[in-house]
Amino acid sequence: MARRNKVTVVGAGNVGATAAHWIASKELADVVLVDIVEGTPQGKALDLAQAAPIDGFDVKLVGSNGYEATADSDVVIITAGLPRKPGMSRDDLLKTNSDIVGSVTEQVAKYSPNSFIIIVSNPLDAMAQVAFRRSGFPKNRVMGMAGILDSARMRCFLAEALDVSVENVTAFVLGGHGDTMVPLPRYSTCAGIPVTELLSKETLDAIIDRTANGGAEIVGLLKTGSAFYAPSLGAVEMTESILKDKKKILPCAVFLEGEYGINDLFVGVPVKLGKNGVEQIIEISLTNDERSAIQKSAAAVQELVDVLGI
Ligand code: LAC
Repeated sequence: MARRNKVTVVGAGNVGATAAHWIASKELADVVLVDIVEGTPQGKALDLAQAAPIDGFDVKLVGSNGYEATADSDVVIITAGLPRKPGMSRDDLLKTNSDIVGSVTEQVAKYSPNSFIIIVSNPLDAMAQVAFRRSGFPKNRVMGMAGILDSARMRCFLAEALDVSVENVTAFVLGGHGDTMVPLPRYSTCAGIPVTELLSKETLDAIIDRTANGGAEIVGLLKTGSAFYAPSLGAVEMTESILKDKKKILPCAVFLEGEYGINDLFVGVPVKLGKNGVEQIIEISLTNDERSAIQKSAAAVQELVDVLGI
C-alpha cells in the first residue's frame, strides 16, 4: 500500500496551526505539529482531527513536544520563532530566532534526514541560511517562503485596483523579504496583459509601496502578532508543488551561487519546485534599475548573515 505523505510543521502558533489546517483540508499529507509549549500542539492537532469528519479529510494529525513523532517526514515547515510586534522590523528578531531555527533544524536533520525544509520564520532569508548551514542538506532541499506571500499581496491589490478576479492576476516580487523587496510590475500581468499597460504609474507605485509594507500593515492592525493566513498558505503551496511534483514556478528564497550576480546567499528569485525540491533557478532579464534594486536587497540580507557569521 502506498504510504501517505508526511509533513511536520514546527511551531503551533498562528502560522503553524493554520498551515496544518490548509494541509489537512487539502488532504495533502499526515501532519505532525510540534511546539515546545506543552499541550498546544496536541490540543490544536486534536481539534483539527475532530474537524475531519465535517470536512471529510482523511489524514492523521498528531501534536508533539518532541521530534520522535516527526521521523521520516517528507517536508518540514519551520515557523518557530517570535513574531513581530508593532514598531519592530523583521530584522529585530535576528538573534533570538536564529537560535530557535538553528536548534529546530538540528532535530529535523536528525529525524528526517531526507526531508525538504521550508522556512517561514523571520527574518526570512537569513533564517533560511541558518537552516541550510545547520542541516548540512544540499541546496535543493532548503528554501524560504516569502515571495509567494509578497506576490499574493501584490496580486490582491492589483485585482482590487483593476476590479478583476484574483485568478487573472500574476505578480512577481523578488529580493529579500524586507523593506528592500523588489516588486516587478513589468513581470506582473492581468490575463496575460502587463499591468503597466492597464494601470497608471501613480496607482502602480502606490501598490508597490503597500506590497513592500504589507507585513507591517497587518502587524499594525493585529498588534499582538503578524500575518498568518497568507504566509501559511504560501508554505503549503510550496509543499504541494514538491509532494505532487507539480513543477510550479514560484518566487522562493533559495541559495544563490552566482545567479543574479549574488553569491552564497539566500534571496528570493523564481524557481521551479518539484519532487527534487528546487529543480531550477530561473534568471529573468532585468533593467539596470531592477538589477540594482535586487543587489541592494541582497546587501541587506548579507548584513544579517554577516552579523550571525554564517
Ligand atoms: C509578513 C511577515 C510574516 O510579511 O513577515 O506578514
